[in-house]
Amino acid sequence: MSVFELTDADRAAAAEHVRFAEREAAKTGLPADTPLRPVDQVAVIGAGTMGGGIAMALANAGLPVVLVDADAAALERGLQRVRANYDTSVQRGKLTPEAVAERMARIRGTNNLADAGGPDGADLFIEAVFEDMALKQRLFRELDAIAKAGAILATNTSGLDINEIAAATRRPQDVVGAHFFSPANVMRLLEVVRSPDATAADVVVTLMALGRRIGKVAVLARIWPGFIGNALFRQYNRDAHFLVEDGALPHEVDATLTKFGYAMGIFAVHDMAGNDVGYPTRKAQMATRPTDRRWNDLILKLVEMGRLGQKSGQGWYRYEAGDRRPQRDPELEAWIVAESARMGITRRPIGEEEILERCLYGMVNEGARLLEHGIALRPSDIDIVYLTGYGFPAAQGGPMAMADRIGLPKVLAAIRRLHAEHGFWWQPAPLLEQLVAEGRSFADLQRAGG
Ligand SMILES: NC(=O)c1ccc[n+]([C@@H]2O[C@H](COP(=O)([O-])OP(=O)(O)OC[C@H]3O[C@@H](n4cnc5c(N)ncnc54)[C@H](O)[C@@H]3O)[C@@H](O)[C@H]2O)c1
Repeated sequence: MSVFELTDADRAAAAEHVRFAEREAAKTGLPADTPLRPVDQVAVIGAGTMGGGIAMALANAGLPVVLVDADAAALERGLQRVRANYDTSVQRGKLTPEAVAERMARIRGTNNLADAGGPDGADLFIEAVFEDMALKQRLFRELDAIAKAGAILATNTSGLDINEIAAATRRPQDVVGAHFFSPANVMRLLEVVRSPDATAADVVVTLMALGRRIGKVAVLARIWPGFIGNALFRQYNRDAHFLVEDGALPHEVDATLTKFGYAMGIFAVHDMAGNDVGYPTRKAQMATRPTDRRWNDLILKLVEMGRLGQKSGQGWYRYEAGDRRPQRDPELEAWIVAESARMGITRRPIGEEEILERCLYGMVNEGARLLEHGIALRPSDIDIVYLTGYGFPAAQGGPMAMADRIGLPKVLAAIRRLHAEHGFWWQPAPLLEQLVAEGRSFADLQRAGG
């Protein structure tokens, strides 16, 4: 039996773990008497994909929201999208027209940021403008000028350094990451990201409490590239692409991942999100990235071939008009085979066990690294991030609980083997090695308090 297969007892233990992990995530380790700052009014800046969803999540919980966008047409589109989402809920019988009217009345749009400032203005600003450091710094300088004293200044950045954003203000203690997931009115995860040197304790506990108030599962993280979720995702994603270069085809990787319990495989997810997401950043990094390790660039080429995913009718798969179901594409598969040859790789058949080891064990290894650096407070927080934000199968309990169930010695042995075969990216995390040497699990580490 594969180590990834579950017995009924495993499933029951995972369910119990998930309940426990949700309770644990609420604990910040900060003094219990840390006072909350009042949050009665919120301003969301940027009425795009994220801003609109965040505004809905807040309005749904009864909070008045000012939705700010510098571009009049973008604001109008954003408000219309909010309205359309609510209309869908009415059509599905989930909300009454009266409830929608109440919620819409809580969201006021403006093109002028100053409308949200001043002593009667927002207690909390959540920035969701384009992912551009210069733009965010400019905006935070403006916020510094208009926000009342004590207002919390939060950024929804997916990956920029929050310390650099905070440095644009004279109040870095009030700056914090509030990383929502798309669609923000639906996804339960909120990563609260603090700068250990700067962010004030009452800002952290206030944002964690706000998360609960709006029905999210808030998880505390420290600043780190990709925070908790995307740091692990990078490992998962990277090896999925290497598997395709080494001999697997996208549908084989995806089928293995869905059999494991994911609702969608990673290549289908890329096609849904758009293969061009993150393209400019990755392209810009190519010139300066280290040359001593392997990189996966097939997705960049896919974008350059116009294979953006569902929206262009082809990506890792092809799509019939009006049908989102991925179909295998012989043309794409022939191209992948040719790319492997161009890279000097002799393709070989790759089985399910290898696909799962390479997609999942890199996450466990990175999780250990995050724990070692104090980026995540505890192993179960990493599980919660994965269960609520990244579609990790609940029956597996999360990546860290899964590793405990399989047994850390087995997981480490596989990581060592992968390191010998594939090099750099698979260096075993020192904490994982230490736990195995001491005969301990992630759960033991958590029980011991760190
Ligand atoms: N899309 C996602 O899945 C996702 C998930 C998590 C985090 N994020 C992060 O959230 C942020 C927003 O992403 P998005 O996908 O919603 O972007 P988007 O392009 O959909 O929307 C950005 C909006 O910001 C507005 N804007 C730009 N400059 C402005 C300014 N100076 N003042 C006010 N409004 C301004 C634009 O007009 C646009 O409407 C980014 O930092 C992104 O990395 C995105």
